[in-house]
Amino acid sequence: KLKFLIDVDCGTDDAQAIMMAVAAPHVKVLAITCVGGNTQLENVCKNVLRVLKVCNRSEIPVYRGLGTPILGERINASYFHGKDGLGDVPDADAPGIENIQKEHAVDMMVKLATKHAGQLTLIATGPLTNLAMAVRMDPSFPSKLKDLYIMGGNMESRGNTTACGEFNFVADPEAAYMVLRDFTCPTYIATWEHSCRSKLSWEWYDKWVNMGTAKATFIKNIYALSMKTSRSEKEVKEMVAGAGFVSCDAYAMAAAIDKSTMTSSIETVVTVELNGKFTRGMMVLDLIDELKRPNKAFVMNGCDLEKFKVLMENSVK
Ligand code: BDR
Ligand code: CA
Repeated sequence: KLKFLIDVDCGTDDAQAIMMAVAAPHVKVLAITCVGGNTQLENVCKNVLRVLKVCNRSEIPVYRGLGTPILGERINASYFHGKDGLGDVPDADAPGIENIQKEHAVDMMVKLATKHAGQLTLIATGPLTNLAMAVRMDPSFPSKLKDLYIMGGNMESRGNTTACGEFNFVADPEAAYMVLRDFTCPTYIATWEHSCRSKLSWEWYDKWVNMGTAKATFIKNIYALSMKTSRSEKEVKEMVAGAGFVSCDAYAMAAAIDKSTMTSSIETVVTVELNGKFTRGMMVLDLIDELKRPNKAFVMNGCDLEKFKVLMENSVK
């Protein structure tokens, strides 16, 4: 089985990505680590516990990581994901926060990478703060990973949080910079533009959330708020790729589960702008190899939507 470690800032699409991973028969999720991002850290922890409960997978251990970025001010995306990060839907049966493991997420990341050296796939769908800390704590951390899948950044300087910046990278630019510089394992990046171009039709979405299972209904409820925003953000979506449903984190997860969902990619050195007045947090593709860095990343540039849909559908069955 593939061994997964998932690092999330559990908003709605992180929830979807987790559900996809735990539904994949050839995947074993060893742990989920939490980072502040879409919502504050305590909410992230609670949200992951809720998602695992819906999936009957509460045995998967969940760890609390860092709640604030390395250097900048904390931002969130509550306008989109809701104040609690999962669409502000009341849940009387939500598991208590005492179910979070005592050990720190970053300690556990380093431990798991050491224990499963060469076998662990890390999927990061939030700001990269925990990953940046892990490489500081153990510089050999990246070399112990099998591979890394990131949702974040942008490939054509189109942003969703600032004019040029995607949320996860803008939320902690220093962390994103460190990870893209220091991670030597094969690294795959699902950018904002890649996500938008891999949108699914609203007709498909409506069928998907109305499948009638407990998981589909959970997804329908937590997505209700953000999809209202998405469906009305017509101009943005039309500019990028036409109207449709976009589940950013799910593209990174799908590629980790089945690499063939990624139909093409650009192999290049990537970095992050840290100082620009308008461009702080923007991902930069070094296509002319100016930086002369050995560790290239694969920037996803094509998704097999038929395969992707099957993974999405299986995740709510
Ligand atoms: C990313 O930011 C968050 O809103 C999503 O969960 C995703 O990880 C998209 O920019
Ligand atoms: Ca996320």
